[in-house]
Amino acid sequence: MEGKFKKESRRTLVTAGLPYANGPIHLGHLVEYIQADIFARFLKLKGEDAAYICGDDTHGTPIEINAAKEGIKPEQHIEKYYEEHAKDFSDFLIEFDSYYTTNSPENRNYSDLFFNTLKEKGHITQRVVELTYCEKCSRYLPDRYVKGKCPKCNAEDQYGDVCEKCNSAYKTTDLIEPYCTICRSTPARKSSLHYFFRLSGFSEKLEKWLKSNEGLQEEAKNFVLNWIEKGLEDWDITRDGPYFGFLIPGETSKYYYVWLDAPIGYIASTEKYCKERFKGKESKDALYYWKSPDSRIIHFIGKDIFYFHFLFWPAMLMGVGYNLPDTIKVHGFLTVNGEKMSKSRGTFITARAYLEQQDPEFLRFYYTANAPSSMDDTNLDFEDFKNRINSDLVDNIANYAYRVLSFANNNLDSKIGKISGRSEKQLINELETKFEEALSHYEKFEFREAVRKILEISAIGNKHFQDSQPWQLIRTDRKKCEEAVAMAANIVKNLSILLAPILPKYADRLQKQLGIEKQTFKNLDFRLQSHRINKARIIFTKIEGEAFSIKQFPLKLRVAKIISAEDHPNADKLYVLRIDLGSEQRQLVAGLKGHYSKEELIGKNIIVVTNLKHAVLRGVKSEGMLLAADDGNKVAVLEAKSAKPGDAVSVEGYAASDGEIGFEDFTKIKMATKNGKAVYKDTPRTTGKGEITADIGDGARIR
Ligand code: MSP
Ligand code: ZN
Repeated sequence: MEGKFKKESRRTLVTAGLPYANGPIHLGHLVEYIQADIFARFLKLKGEDAAYICGDDTHGTPIEINAAKEGIKPEQHIEKYYEEHAKDFSDFLIEFDSYYTTNSPENRNYSDLFFNTLKEKGHITQRVVELTYCEKCSRYLPDRYVKGKCPKCNAEDQYGDVCEKCNSAYKTTDLIEPYCTICRSTPARKSSLHYFFRLSGFSEKLEKWLKSNEGLQEEAKNFVLNWIEKGLEDWDITRDGPYFGFLIPGETSKYYYVWLDAPIGYIASTEKYCKERFKGKESKDALYYWKSPDSRIIHFIGKDIFYFHFLFWPAMLMGVGYNLPDTIKVHGFLTVNGEKMSKSRGTFITARAYLEQQDPEFLRFYYTANAPSSMDDTNLDFEDFKNRINSDLVDNIANYAYRVLSFANNNLDSKIGKISGRSEKQLINELETKFEEALSHYEKFEFREAVRKILEISAIGNKHFQDSQPWQLIRTDRKKCEEAVAMAANIVKNLSILLAPILPKYADRLQKQLGIEKQTFKNLDFRLQSHRINKARIIFTKIEGEAFSIKQFPLKLRVAKIISAEDHPNADKLYVLRIDLGSEQRQLVAGLKGHYSKEELIGKNIIVVTNLKHAVLRGVKSEGMLLAADDGNKVAVLEAKSAKPGDAVSVEGYAASDGEIGFEDFTKIKMATKNGKAVYKDTPRTTGKGEITADIGDGARIR
């Protein structure tokens, strides 16, 4: 096959969207990081100069607020996620050439360079804006932090940017009866002088770029062209402090909006890569990729962020005169069992939770065999996952490889002889055509089709081995047997090479068994002859039982507001509480006397177990139980300050239970406090609007 794939002289930068340093990597993210990893590995195996660049996206309001809630500095918060993310990626065999952070000196430099250049060229203007401001929290409230009624359709509880009911877009200041989602007080209005990027000035250039660029998907292109036609608005690139980000030059409390410096993070990560790669004599910086005519840039992103990558980002690059992306590969979202990932259904599965139960290469294989190359969603169905892995990967490929190699071990003294060139010519031709087809699918991002081709090749291999019946030939015609096994060993070798972008570890191990190493697409041939192989070992076995079990959290928890509190008529330590659960009211008996006064309790948003068998305590009915933390001295009720009555409480990675639970089983559930939060087996419990807190030290038992 040598020479058939021309080695391109240019170099390629492959990027994936920078994950927020504000939460764990989950199976949704992995759709993207695996795809981009496969493509980068493909290029490298082809002999191209390619680098896979990524990093954490560390700035913005949520990161600043979450760090503050935990009582740590944002720098500590992002550091923790950096380590976690890096470990998750490496365990999923995602191999970055540079994994950096947007909170780096390189990123600050490039962000300032972009801002200053765009400003000098007249692409940035200033304008006063009206914003929502919470006096109590002393902060401006961006759209995720203010809710209210939709100004168009009056739907309740809508965020400050778009209405989920009627889809209309508006400003935070347009909301009717707004409230701060942090403290629930009513925000005021306040004005601030902001910098805007004049996106409209790039309309024509963007349109031209979109129309002439063949590396962009039609469906994405059409969306964007439509937006341009409707007229582009200036983009607000300023955020007021407190904010975690880079200060705008010359300002004291105004920062770059996270989406300004996030994509510039691609450049900063490239710079870091270049520093390491070219250290010493031929020092080069990121412009070796971002301003050179010999390089191409390929972004992998999800459909939720394509507005940024098809409009703002290219316009910014145009403004400073850098290279534009050659290809932006947009993928859809991950659904689990046909539905959006959901915390309460337990289908919000983190990378770590998956790794505790399954092989990372199984997910790499399943995603690749399933993900469409369009913007359609990818579905993960664990029943289908099991079938695919067992039949396609284990049966068709891995068992075949093991059968061939172990046969050679056991019957031919591990020796691979010569292929009979004459009789196998046709088969070789057929296979070589398929190799090329598989590679061409990879090249066009048609990974699913590449897998299909590889499975065809393996099926041909299986049939060939079955039809040749080497276990018969070994007794009747040893030479023919050797020829058949030599052919089969070559098919196995070629499978290992073709699979290497998807299953790098499997490919490596299989090649070691074959007695060869680090094969590239140049080695796609039938020249593994007169060669001794190593001992065959089983690498993949079938999944028995459930492919992945979604853990159940045994309690059904809801947020409730205490409406009233009375003394229990027959007990000294008990109160009788009336609570509002959103859709209903209930009565609870709680042992909080001596810890809280009645007045302190009224109005609190507490957490109630609603699937506990009802009980009668000293003659008064208790329809559930509130949760409180107890350290032996102090008792503190669990609170969900920013939630509202009726909100569900979930534990990430666990499905919420529906069945009734008895008191005995309830006492066995291990819940405790950690960093002021309620945790179950170390996982924090949350409502849709934040963590559950308790005003007590670490390690207090929750009952
Ligand atoms: N920080 C921004 C990206 C900045 S790029 C300059 C961001 N971060 S993210 O963590 O929310 O997502 C990172 C990437 O993962 C995005 O491309 C996003 O589309 C992708 N995915 C996140 N959740 C996903 C699914 N559930 N399914 C598929 N991809 C998803 O956006
Ligand atoms: Zn507030």
